[in-house]
Amino acid sequence: MSPFTCVLGSGHAVPPRILTNAELEQMVDTSEEWIIERCGIRQRHIAAPGSALSDLATQAAQQALSAAEVAAADIDMIIVATVTGDMKFPAMACLIQEKLQADNAAAFDVSAACSGFLYSLHLADSLMRTSGYRHILVIAAEMLSSMVNWQDRNTCVLFGDGAGAVVLGRSDGSNGLLSTYVKSDGRHHKLLFNPGGSQHPPSHETIDNQLATINMAGREVFRHAVVSMTDALNAALEQAGLTSADIDLLIPHQANIRIIEGIGKRCKIPADKVYVNVDRYGNTSAASVPIALNEAWRGGRISSGDIVALVTFGAGLTWSACIIRF
Ligand code: ACO
Repeated sequence: MSPFTCVLGSGHAVPPRILTNAELEQMVDTSEEWIIERCGIRQRHIAAPGSALSDLATQAAQQALSAAEVAAADIDMIIVATVTGDMKFPAMACLIQEKLQADNAAAFDVSAACSGFLYSLHLADSLMRTSGYRHILVIAAEMLSSMVNWQDRNTCVLFGDGAGAVVLGRSDGSNGLLSTYVKSDGRHHKLLFNPGGSQHPPSHETIDNQLATINMAGREVFRHAVVSMTDALNAALEQAGLTSADIDLLIPHQANIRIIEGIGKRCKIPADKVYVNVDRYGNTSAASVPIALNEAWRGGRISSGDIVALVTFGAGLTWSACIIRF
């Protein structure tokens, strides 16, 4: 039997409302030129107030199930990467389980910010190898618009909402997840955080003092992002017995075009082998890589036998990579 866990199908969904740079110019002291030049973002999708992220995640999951030709009843486990679930508890995975009627699954959430999808793949791959599960549904969904300070130009121009999903199964050949790598360094947690939690429960004071919104030291985060994603990619390649020359498509976390270009340069991967959609979605946190993966796969950028490298970076700080043969 093949030792590999493989991706059977993928899907993604974003809210219909598009927030343009021109609109942001009316909200904070910024400009279309600054956002495009410094971040590479032209627009982002933003969820309607009061909408449920679990609905968007369910849409992405249904698309992935249909592509994989797997019934919801045949899913053994649902792992959802998110830091913006509908509720503090229960896990959003349980809400999605109900919506999908995936009644035979166990469901839980993973909190690793933008690295959440690859942390979940790492976990799911291990479980597939050891538990006897046949199918695991991994979803990454974020509504960072719900925790952005819309008066802070340092952060509000960067983020968007969305969801991506994959159905994992057992490979019957040499295709599948060749390696996964995860790492974190909690000493840097103050570089990117949202303090709104049990230490600062909701109150007039926490709202007035912006204690439930995103705080970020952008320049330092940028520096760590390039170094740690390069580190993660190299570690995952080495584990798979490959080099960057073997990569047919690199799908990096879509946070900033300059970070993406920096990784391509450091890892010597030509621009035409690097997938970019940050211009259309902004940074959708954990959802960014599965959205890009689904677009690339459905758009014909991935063929059978291709080596695809996924690499992410996020709050924690956390970073991770995964090498897949399709
Ligand atoms: N419009 C206009 N000017 C701005 C804006 C804006 N939206 N934002 C910041 N500036 C200004 C700053 O105030 C500063 O002005 P000053 O020199 O007068 O003080 C100037 O632009 C330069 O600021 P920097 O912070 O040095 O700008 P930089 O080129 O580093 O770009 C950015 C900032 C886009 C945030 C960049 O540092 C970045 O992308 N960092 C990584 C962020 C990231 O990836 N975060 C997500 C991690 S994933 C997760 O877990 C969610």
